[in-house]
Amino acid sequence: MTKKRILITGASRGLGLAISRKLAAEYQLILHATTPDSFTEVPADSQILCADLSDPEAVAGFCKQLKKEHGDTLYGVINNAGVTFDNSLIFQPEKAIDTMLNVNLRAPIMICKTAMKIFSLSKKGVIINISSVVGETGNAFQAVYAATKAGLVALSKSLAQEAAALNEAHQIRVLSVSPGFIATDMTDKLPEKEKEKYLKMIPSKRFGKAEDVAEMISFLLSEQSAYVNGTNIHVNGGLV
Ligand SMILES: NC(=O)c1ccc[n+]([C@@H]2O[C@H](COP(=O)([O-])OP(=O)(O)OC[C@H]3O[C@@H](n4cnc5c(N)ncnc54)[C@H](OP(=O)(O)O)[C@@H]3O)[C@@H](O)[C@H]2O)c1
Repeated sequence: MTKKRILITGASRGLGLAISRKLAAEYQLILHATTPDSFTEVPADSQILCADLSDPEAVAGFCKQLKKEHGDTLYGVINNAGVTFDNSLIFQPEKAIDTMLNVNLRAPIMICKTAMKIFSLSKKGVIINISSVVGETGNAFQAVYAATKAGLVALSKSLAQEAAALNEAHQIRVLSVSPGFIATDMTDKLPEKEKEKYLKMIPSKRFGKAEDVAEMISFLLSEQSAYVNGTNIHVNGGLV
């Protein structure tokens, strides 16, 4: 049987790398990062497709290539690439605001637009947008980042409804996943005091591993989750 084809953005490090490791045996992967040099590990049989997602022109080129090369076979999209520049909004440079909006929200919207076109022909497919716990709770010094992540939850719920509105019969699902505090490069930068503060707020008494999120993604792509749609799934150890 031919393997289903899945795009994972931000697959060079952290959650994206763990997701690619988890999915590699079962799926044919299209792995994205800023440049091919970002990858230290590429599972066999995977293809690399790179673009700087902060650049709308590069995103347009990426989506065009995705449709041209994989328009007939694409089954899943994991919009995982993301950036944060933690700062008070008062002092946040406009460039940092634009980069977060572009990478975290605009690029996923454009990639969803391409995927929805493809899925509306095949009548099947799964999109999973990686949001964050702060998209729901908000977080001081992450106002723009949190806004982009809340946007992904609304985007996913809306597209799940849109797939139903446009198709009589279909197996298209759109979801978001909100990780809590997961140990990756992104969280490694935080001051120790901040990390201790978070740890006290996690009932599971540990930070998450990238693999914890990868397990959930694997489930949400599978037939076992066929009735999970248009919702946001938390993977956060009970973080409150
Ligand atoms: N870690 C957490 O605790 C946590 C919690 C909640 C949500 N999340 C979300 O989970 C996702 C992955 O986070 P992570 O912790 O794994 O992050 P990470 O370790 O910092 O990795 C970020 C990934 O995004 C890619 N990326 C960054 N800027 C890009 C750009 N301008 N264009 C294209 N690709 C770009 C990076 O590619 P390069 O290697 O080429 O730079 C890398 O593959 C993000 O959306 C993040 O917001 C993480």
